[in-house]
Amino acid sequence: MFTANRKKFFAQMQDGDVAIFAGASHVTRNHDVDFRFRQSSSFWYLTGCHEADACLILAKGITGIDEECLFVLPKDPLQETWHGRRLGPEGAEEKLDFENADVNDEFDGAAMEAITAAKRLWHSVGSNDELDALVAECCATLRAKSRLGEQAPEVIVDHAPVINAMRLIKSEDEITLMLAAANISAEAHSVAMSQAQPGMREYEIEAMLHHYFRAHGSHADGWAYPSIVAGGENACILHYTENDQLLGDGDLLLIDAGAEYQGYAADITRTFPINSKFSPAQRDVYQVVLDAQRATIENCQIGNSFHSGHDIASKVLAQGLIDLKIIGGTLEDCLEEQSYKRFTIHNTSHWLGLDVHDCGEYYLDGNSRPLEAGMVMTVEPGLYFSPTDEMVPEQFRGIGVRIEDDVHITKEGPQILSEGVPKEIEDVEQQCSG
Ligand code: GLY
Ligand code: MN
Ligand code: MN
Repeated sequence: MFTANRKKFFAQMQDGDVAIFAGASHVTRNHDVDFRFRQSSSFWYLTGCHEADACLILAKGITGIDEECLFVLPKDPLQETWHGRRLGPEGAEEKLDFENADVNDEFDGAAMEAITAAKRLWHSVGSNDELDALVAECCATLRAKSRLGEQAPEVIVDHAPVINAMRLIKSEDEITLMLAAANISAEAHSVAMSQAQPGMREYEIEAMLHHYFRAHGSHADGWAYPSIVAGGENACILHYTENDQLLGDGDLLLIDAGAEYQGYAADITRTFPINSKFSPAQRDVYQVVLDAQRATIENCQIGNSFHSGHDIASKVLAQGLIDLKIIGGTLEDCLEEQSYKRFTIHNTSHWLGLDVHDCGEYYLDGNSRPLEAGMVMTVEPGLYFSPTDEMVPEQFRGIGVRIEDDVHITKEGPQILSEGVPKEIEDVEQQCSG
């Protein structure tokens, strides 16, 4: 898969082009402790290399310069005893299917040589300070040697838009991995639904989710983004991650959590009653959000614009707010004045892939982008009523509901990758009491 990705990018290079890429480095957490390593998503996509401080050079049709060379940390028994195994260049060629690999100490010299020989350079300015400095130094050196016939590349092309566009359309292999991430996540959500009880702490549920992610093959931290486990009015804080409060009898619990599998993210939200039974007000709000979500998923068809789903969700949510007498006026007034936005707050969808908010353009030539087969997006409408909002009838205050699924756009219509977790009211209540 990674070799195929690299070849696909290579096919878009012209003769005389050189492309340079840097992977992620370790990041300090505190004092001499690092965060767990996470490879940069695009570097992973092109290499399948999970080691820190790796770099890549691709060169097309340039005599004396390898077409591809991955630069990795050298084998070092002492370092590996302390910090873990390394592939080394030979291991990289063998296990990652590279034609050439070298130690990363050789990268600067090799990049300098390749850039010297290049007509055009592919480099994403601003994404890696060290690489920017190397390119700047290299170009300055070449310009200073112009009387000797040297020349800096005339054109520097940003490779990010090309790779982002590739990443936006998922291959079958990628969908298989995304389905695995979604399945693990859906099962973890189902477990959380059946285990949550009044009197537990939010972090107990968080721990169950993360245990499930890791125990079922998720890598690194197990999660694709910090889990939101928000009981009661905490659900009205969109990116709540303290996860340390008691779960109240009669409250809802909103969980927004997804596993990361082989680098690919799931992003699922469910909201359910902690004591297994929705109150009438909770049920009313939940049903509106569910209706909005179902209508939006139905719209996930090839050719429909990305933003058309948000319009559909907004309309259903607005009508629901009117029907529940939370806002007044007609649907037309409400949509015109956007009075519903106070309670819907966020957008309805984003791309999903190696990054939870994945790369890829949302607009083409200023217009909302039409959906294509192979895209994966979330559908996640929500309604949130602040506990202190006196404009809202009392029974709704402090309720926050979001329902989020991961949808693969296919010729046959929307494929819900995360459908394994209940969301109809009866099914949710049954799962909660089971
Ligand atoms: N979990 C982040 C989001 O739903 O976008
Ligand atoms: Mn999301
Ligand atoms: Mn989410």
